[in-house]
Amino acid sequence: MQPVYFQNLPASGNAAVRTALDSCKPGYALPRYFYTDADLFAYDMRHFVMAHWHCVGHVSMAPNPGDYFTAELAGESFIISRGEDHALHALLNVCRHRGSRVCTESQGHAPNGRLVCPYHAWTYDCAGELLSARVTADDLRRDLLHLKKVRLHVEEGMIFITLAKEPLGLDHVREAFTASAKVYGWARAKVIARKTYQIQANWKLVEENYQECYHCGPAHQEYSKRHTYARPQAQRDAPDEAMRQRDRALGIGLKDLDFYFNKARPGQESADSIRSAMAGNFVTGSRNGAAVAPLMGDFKGKDYDGGFSFVDVGPTSNFVAYPDYALHYRTIPLSADRTAFELMWLVDQDAVEGVDYQVDDVTWLWDYTSQEDKRIIELNQLGVNSAFFEPGPYSPMEIYAQQYSEWYLAALRHAVA
Ligand code: FES
Ligand SMILES: [Fe+2]
Repeated sequence: MQPVYFQNLPASGNAAVRTALDSCKPGYALPRYFYTDADLFAYDMRHFVMAHWHCVGHVSMAPNPGDYFTAELAGESFIISRGEDHALHALLNVCRHRGSRVCTESQGHAPNGRLVCPYHAWTYDCAGELLSARVTADDLRRDLLHLKKVRLHVEEGMIFITLAKEPLGLDHVREAFTASAKVYGWARAKVIARKTYQIQANWKLVEENYQECYHCGPAHQEYSKRHTYARPQAQRDAPDEAMRQRDRALGIGLKDLDFYFNKARPGQESADSIRSAMAGNFVTGSRNGAAVAPLMGDFKGKDYDGGFSFVDVGPTSNFVAYPDYALHYRTIPLSADRTAFELMWLVDQDAVEGVDYQVDDVTWLWDYTSQEDKRIIELNQLGVNSAFFEPGPYSPMEIYAQQYSEWYLAALRHAVA
């Protein structure tokens, strides 16, 4: 399935993209064109973003038949719904009559498992089958008019979808993502908050920003007080031997920082996982350093281990794991100069709001940090828009942003070769 705006990319596009690729300098940030051009955005979506898997939510967001939530990805809207048979489906949120959005809420329950189009009331079940279409020909082939579907896969409670014709394998994801997610018990978690941040900037500025902590010292004072990862020394040495020993004792499956984006094996989805230490007496990412929710997964009945994990899958799905809560950070490309990112916070499924946790306590740090990120990313776009912008060299503290860009450039070079 190919969205229509991918079908007629301008013939001149390849030459323009090739010229832009030739102008990239190794070890330097990307030139302006990559953050501003609408045709290039279509290339990004078609040749990079759509080729990958993307986490769009958690199973707890649609626990029962008839439950659904919607997710945007690459300019498309999807309905993630649970059918009568309890199976999850990823349906394109485009009516098979004249194309209206079918679901308009971000999350809900379809009465009697029926999704009804608000325009002319064509009615689908939660697996996407067309059940009824008012005042239509007797011989209407309802069986040919089901909502279009894309592939969906659940890994430790997290729901991933892909639009790729030949989806990337998930072996690498199982090694880097699942091993960590299992320890933290994400399959037995629940979502307690979701928040979307609208960013006036290209999606690559959002991801590059996420991938480096060179900016943490100047831009995130609260974050930096709590995480040694913000410090140059910690990035050079991390994880230290004490951290490695704790990780091994916990069974956290890391192979010595060896999984970076551009090291993904051919045909496999990329995933990486990094451990780092909390700073000072902070046991988790909270306002005052104290726990904000009950310990999760294998940590139950044990204690905080003084560390946390960053885990990434594919180009848009980023996760942060503390022993008492998890954060999913999702980059949502919208157009050449507009992006959203969504944060989703999870705690143990048995934790009780008001008793075991307060939503505001769990969400405070990353909401605060994300508002700071929105500001710096938008400032970055304003500068990059300048005709006088010349990319400067990456710092060693931006190694992951640099690797991300190289991974992206390799995909584009392959596409226009
Ligand atoms: S567009 Fe959905 S019923 Fe007409
Ligand atoms: Fe940041």
